[in-house]
Amino acid sequence: MYTKISGTGSALPENRVTNLDFERLVDTTDEWITARTGISERRISSGENTSDFAARAAANALSSAGIGPLDVDLVIAATVSPDSFTPTVSCQVQKALGLAGATCFDLWAGCTGFIFALMTADSLIRSGAFSHALVIGAEVLSKLVDWTDRGTCVLFGDGAGAVVLSQSPNPGVLAHFTGSDGTRGSVLCIDGIPLANPWTADQAPSPPHSVIRMDGQEVFKFAVTAMQQSIRRVCELAGIDLDDVPYIIPHQANNRIIESVAGRMKIPRSRFYTNLDRRGNTSAASIPIALDEMNRAGVLKPQMPLVLVGFGGGLTWGASMIRWIPSSREGS
Ligand code: ACO
Repeated sequence: MYTKISGTGSALPENRVTNLDFERLVDTTDEWITARTGISERRISSGENTSDFAARAAANALSSAGIGPLDVDLVIAATVSPDSFTPTVSCQVQKALGLAGATCFDLWAGCTGFIFALMTADSLIRSGAFSHALVIGAEVLSKLVDWTDRGTCVLFGDGAGAVVLSQSPNPGVLAHFTGSDGTRGSVLCIDGIPLANPWTADQAPSPPHSVIRMDGQEVFKFAVTAMQQSIRRVCELAGIDLDDVPYIIPHQANNRIIESVAGRMKIPRSRFYTNLDRRGNTSAASIPIALDEMNRAGVLKPQMPLVLVGFGGGLTWGASMIRWIPSSREGS
């Protein structure tokens, strides 16, 4: 038994925030942000939380797949910005969409979360335990951003993307390559709740809520290496020549990272699909949002191989090779 992506969906905030808006917020310029990152605008939530975007993206993916809520028996949401520790985003999506009977859990792997979630759902479906999974990447990073730090606040956006992963007689999901290095976790952090109970020595009051802290140059170097390794390895594992892959869908962090990978691997930049100029970095949501955009624009053709590749906090990295199989080809 194999799996395939049978539908895609995404959901974004209405609120467009441009680089000019940031000029009024912190000491920055449109020129600096565009030149250093490639980002011109991003969508920032003005009320909806992570599970709201996740549920809307999931509903759109179900409608794209042509299946109903009761067909879904597995929901995995990748996020670093859940509404709450519990209930999870996936359980909140279950409630919102009436996915009665589904097994739901969240997965944390930073910006690589969607790749890890896709790999997990792929394995669980191929084991025979599940038939249709909703695999979601959803973030409202705007609640974790330090809005006084010009080095990070200009980078991020909010939103969600989702796919339906279904059993298939033909191979749609071909291979995954993933890795982690916890020894380098400090270059990209969002702190959790400090340890404090009646038996701990430190009774200091809780600090203000956590924000994203990043050593941008270290993340840059890590990302360029990790993406190259992930792309190469997933091609080897899938037995597909990189030259035969028309599109690579990278985590949408920074245009200069993508240009650097393209240059070092001698891959034309045009084969890397990007939307970060309009979306910013939406962490675990960035790859499924981009995939949904490509699907709805009609860019994806039957049997087309695609590499999805990400990197993120943890540190984590990974890639998936998929072959695009539209649902109608199999009559399912
Ligand atoms: N506007 C104007 N100046 C700025 C801004 C800004 N928004 N941000 C930083 N600067 C300044 C700095 O203060 C510094 O000034 P100084 O020289 O007077 O001290 C100067 O610009 C250079 O700062 P650097 O941090 O060295 O800038 P760099 O060229 O490295 O660009 C950036 C910063 C864009 C973050 C870059 O390091 C990068 O792209 N890193 C990759 C990290 C990334 O994309 N992370 C995304 C999140 S992580 C993830 O998705 C997994």
